[in-house]
Amino acid sequence: MIIEPKTRGFICLTSHPTGCEQNVLNQIEYVKERPVKNGPKKVLVIGASTGFGLASRITAAYGSNAATIGAFFEKPPSEGRPASPGWYNSAAFEAQAHKDGLYAKSINGDAFSNEIKAQTIDLIKSDLGEIDLLVYSLASPVRTHPDTGERFKSVLKPIGQTFTDNTVDFHTGEVKEISIEPGTEEDIKNTVAVMGGEDWQMWIDALKSAGVLSEDFKTVAYSYIGPSLTEAVYRKGTIGRAKDHLEATAFKITDALKAINGQAYVSVNKALVTQASSAIPVIPLYISLLYKVMKEEGIHEGCIEQIERLFNARLYAENLELDEAGRIRIDDWEMRDDIQAKVLELWKQATTETLPNIGDLKGYETDFYNLFGFKVDGVDYDKDVNEMVDIPGLQ
Ligand code: NAI
Ligand code: NA
Repeated sequence: MIIEPKTRGFICLTSHPTGCEQNVLNQIEYVKERPVKNGPKKVLVIGASTGFGLASRITAAYGSNAATIGAFFEKPPSEGRPASPGWYNSAAFEAQAHKDGLYAKSINGDAFSNEIKAQTIDLIKSDLGEIDLLVYSLASPVRTHPDTGERFKSVLKPIGQTFTDNTVDFHTGEVKEISIEPGTEEDIKNTVAVMGGEDWQMWIDALKSAGVLSEDFKTVAYSYIGPSLTEAVYRKGTIGRAKDHLEATAFKITDALKAINGQAYVSVNKALVTQASSAIPVIPLYISLLYKVMKEEGIHEGCIEQIERLFNARLYAENLELDEAGRIRIDDWEMRDDIQAKVLELWKQATTETLPNIGDLKGYETDFYNLFGFKVDGVDYDKDVNEMVDIPGLQ
């Protein structure tokens, strides 16, 4: 079939297998040239199909020849209906990995559930014996608690007061003011339940009880801080409470892994266009200005550049520097004083009229379409493609 983008607000309902494949192959090429010395060998990535998790899987596999198991929640294709992009990404990754002699298998389902945890552990036991790295890169709007069956919905709201500032609709380029009412205590609780550290801890507990964690095992989960501009709606909002919880969980996990000399980290990553971040108000305007400034300075990175740097310059480097709160920082370039001063200056000037010049709206839009395999360089979109693609290592 011929597949075209069909957007509804900040989502795209279609995705392109060839474009997704090209994105994956580009990331593989990037990492192949940057091997990770003493990198991981047997890796589980939760949230492995898109964004930072996909980049983590590719970096482990192609940076240090690691066997990878990817867990994710993606929609398979049906006749005439393309799959979700993470499906095609995983299909492309596993096909290439198998060609290159790398172990790569995957599990598609709700990673919050006990069933998916048990299935993953069985696969580790039968195929790998143990893992030495777990990357936790889940981003989800909902979670059903595996023990109580309660369904939690996360929300992106400020706490304590109404937040009012500008945002951009990147499809139309319109800059307009939005107001978001503060979240309730219930909203905070629900958001922490979805995006906090409880499920990460549950994964570690289950893996540890099953005896599948190696000596010196490491685990890393991803967090975000961002500038004062987005603080009220992000870091000091409901999602920020969840990130506080996630960060605190790292210390608990490290304590629980003393016997095997295990270590849990949180890495604070840069703001990037992903399916998760395009849903957050104000962030698209911030990202379009940030991209402009960082590209001008020659320090712009995407997911793969970020994660390759995380592995090579942080997690598997000789000396791992942490911030005052014990976190890994790969948002260091985003947060540089000179970068933030420029973004703040541009923020004050941003209107529908000025944004095309002062911001990187084009870059934002391209990245957004790329997430779904569209507008990818070198792909012929007029060519008929088969939407019914299998993931070769899917269990
Ligand atoms: P993403 O939307 O690209 O990836 C989410 C992944 O989670 C996908 O693989 C998806 O299949 C999987 N997933 C969702 N629900 C699932 C479920 N119930 N069971 C199994 N898998 C499920 O998101 P992104 O942006 O890569 O986010 C990953 C982490 O990085 C999140 O913790 C996010 O907060 C964090 N982060 C994101 C930043 C950004 O700007 N995008 C910046 C810093 C941190
Ligand atoms: Na991810």
